[in-house]
Order: sequence, then structure tokens, then C-alpha cells
Amino acid sequence: MNPNGTSEGVSGKALPEPIAIPRIRPTPRRGAERPPSRSPWFPSMTHPLLSPLPLPNGQVAPNRIWLAPMTNQQSHADGRLSEDELHWLERRAAGGFGVIETCATHVAADGQGWPGELGIFDDRHAQGWGQLVAAVQAHGAWLVPQLFHGGARARGDLTGSTPITTVDSADGSARAATDDDLRRVVARFRDAAARAMTAGADGVEIHGAHGYLPCQFLSTTLNTREDAWGGDLAGRARLLREITRAVREVVPADRMLCVRLSPEDFGQLTGLDLGESVQVARWLVDDGMDVLHLSLWDALAPSRQRPDVHPVAPFRSALPADVPIVVAGNVWSRADAEFCLDAGADAVALGRSAITTPDWPRTVARDGAAPVRPPVTREHLRAAGLGEAFVDYMARWDGFVSA
Ligand SMILES: Cc1cc2nc3c(=O)[nH]c(=O)nc-3n(C[C@H](O)[C@H](O)[C@H](O)COP(=O)(O)O)c2cc1C
Repeated sequence: MNPNGTSEGVSGKALPEPIAIPRIRPTPRRGAERPPSRSPWFPSMTHPLLSPLPLPNGQVAPNRIWLAPMTNQQSHADGRLSEDELHWLERRAAGGFGVIETCATHVAADGQGWPGELGIFDDRHAQGWGQLVAAVQAHGAWLVPQLFHGGARARGDLTGSTPITTVDSADGSARAATDDDLRRVVARFRDAAARAMTAGADGVEIHGAHGYLPCQFLSTTLNTREDAWGGDLAGRARLLREITRAVREVVPADRMLCVRLSPEDFGQLTGLDLGESVQVARWLVDDGMDVLHLSLWDALAPSRQRPDVHPVAPFRSALPADVPIVVAGNVWSRADAEFCLDAGADAVALGRSAITTPDWPRTVARDGAAPVRPPVTREHLRAAGLGEAFVDYMARWDGFVSA
């Protein structure tokens, strides 16, 4: 979803300009606990962003710079991996990103949100996943699929079925999911995670953000059900919690289970409350979550709901100290990323800056170079490893691609 709350990645409107925000008092950094760098790529590196990231399950991620999940429409129509997708992700692994998250990847045929979306809902996808994992891991990075179901925002014209969501939509475009539907969704997330494990992935991320199915259930405005899947926070969080527990059953303790949340309202996405999101995150730790990923759209800004604090702060004080928090949103320069660490985050996930600057960890984090900022040419994007479908996709973001 873009900040205007329309669809993942596709924007007819420009991203909001960074607002001038007084630097808020940072949460004390846990830098003293960080082990020295053991990065295979940068042996002499000492910058905290390039230091390994220990997880509570004993895994140690190579560094603290993640590739954010990015939908790009460059997979095959049936969800199989394409050469373009392989190349785009492998290029970022070669560029030094420690954790490579894939685009939102549908766990069920009826959850597909875009044409050309990578799929993980069928065994025919297995070969591609094995290939992708091997290619990324060959560079010392982790490969982590983002597991996704679009719910009301799935594309009926692509899936051939009426999208499911919390309640019947007024225009008939989506229907209320039944108990059986929701049990099936939970099973599909579990099966998809099992496929990822078979392929050798280092972990999985459950997409609980941006107004897709699990987030539709969390939202008070989107979820007005009165049964056990709605009502109070426990009811609204039930779907995401059941998914998390089911995924944990098949993801062994030594492989990461990460959940991405939108902590509060943003753009057209409403019905999310910061305090409720903190409670949900606490429950998710009980359910087996190793890492929390907060999608902030502007990680340099304070909470909209509580302008006196950075959004990471309440999560940091509520979660066990060893559960890392990853943040994404508007991180371009090394100083931006350092600000996020100072605000209490343990790692940053880069979206647009990783598109323009595939070697960001080497050039920006290590050497302090300036990232490439948009607008960029189509040729720049091709040279940065994007396939033609992805280049076309980015051309739909206002101001990203120069004419
Ligand atoms: C082209 C594009 C596609 C995106 N697709 C996804 C997605 O599939 N899943 C997701 O959780 N977020 C998605 N996002 C959001 C990003 O992961 C990230 O949170 C957001 O772009 C803010 O980070 P940035 O300012 O570094 O770009 C997408 C963003 C972009 C630019």
C-alpha cells in the first residue's frame, strides 16, 4: 500500500514530502550489547548498521540492513519465479543487504493482489523458491518470503473468485469470510511457510500491515463483525494470532518468524490504534514471533497519534529486550538509518533507496556516500537490476522515473 492507502507500491500520487520534525529524545540505544562486526562482506567494518543482528531464537542475521518487501509484478502469471525477480533480489544480496525480503507473496490462489505476483501456494512454485534461496544465500544474505493474503484487496479478475474479508462490502466486491474460509486461510499461511522452509529460507515474514487480510481484521473500521473474529481486540487479533501460531508450528525454532504491522492509521488505512498495536505485538511474542517489523512510511517522524514519542518507543518498552524491531519508511541516507537506531530500532528495511541504490550497504552505510534519489531514468533502474515490468511499475510512482 502506498501512503494514500490505495494499493501496495502503486501510487498515482507522490509520496508525502518529509516533514520538518524536531528530533525527539531518542530511546537509549542498546548498542553496547551489540557484538563486533562479523560481516563476511566488510571485515573491517565497524558501523553499527553493518554489525550482526542477534535474534532471540539464536540466529544471527548478517547485518541490520534489510531489503523491504516490494511488489513489482515481474513474476510469471501463475506465480512462478522469473529470471527478472531472481536477478533483482540477488543483486541486492550482492550489494550487501543482510536480509532480503521478497515482495508480498500470496499464500492462496484467492489472495493474489496484483498481476505478476510471486506465489507460494502450490508445489509448482517449489523449484523457483529453491533457486532463489540458493542465489541469495550464496552472497551470505538471508532470504525471507513475505507471506500475504490480499483479502478484500485481492483481485477477483485474476483469481476468479469473490475476495473474502471481514464483512460483506457495500458494493458487492468482497464477501464476509466464513469460519471455514478463515480456517483455510490459516492453513494456507502454514502450508506456505512450510514450503519456504523446504526451500531453505532463513525465515518468513507474515504481512500483517497495510490493510490486507490480517490487517483488515485488526482494524476497528474494517472489522465490524460480532462473532469470535471481531469485536474486542482479542477477537480482531484472532486471525493474525492463529496464523502466527500455525506458521510457528512449521517454522523451526532456529528460523526466524517475523511479523509486519502498521502500528497506527495512515492515509486511507484507519481503525488502527498505537496502544492496541503494542498489545497485539506482545501477544505475537507469546505466539512465537521472533522479530517485529514496523511499517512506518516515515521512520523519521514521531507517532501521529502520540506526537511526543517515536512510534518505536512504546513497542521497545513493551517487548522483551531481545526481540528486535525493524523499521521501514523514508530511510535514504546513513544519517536517516542512524536516527532509526537511536530511536530504538535494531535494523532498518529499505524500500525506494534500495531500488535506486542496490549497493546501499557498501556505499552509503560503509562509506557514507549519498544515496541516489529520484527521479532516476529507466536506464538507471535497468542497470540497478529491475526488469521491464518493475521499471514500468515504478514509472507509476509520481516523480520516481524521469521522462
Ligand atoms: C514499489 C513498492 C512496492 C511495495 N510492495 C510492498 C509489499 O509487497 N509488501 C509490503 O509490506 N510493503 C510494500 N511496500 C512498502 C515498502 O516495503 C516500504 O515499507 C515503504 O516503501 C516505505 O519505505 P521506503 O520509504 O524506504 O520506500 C512497497 C513499496 C514500494 C515502493
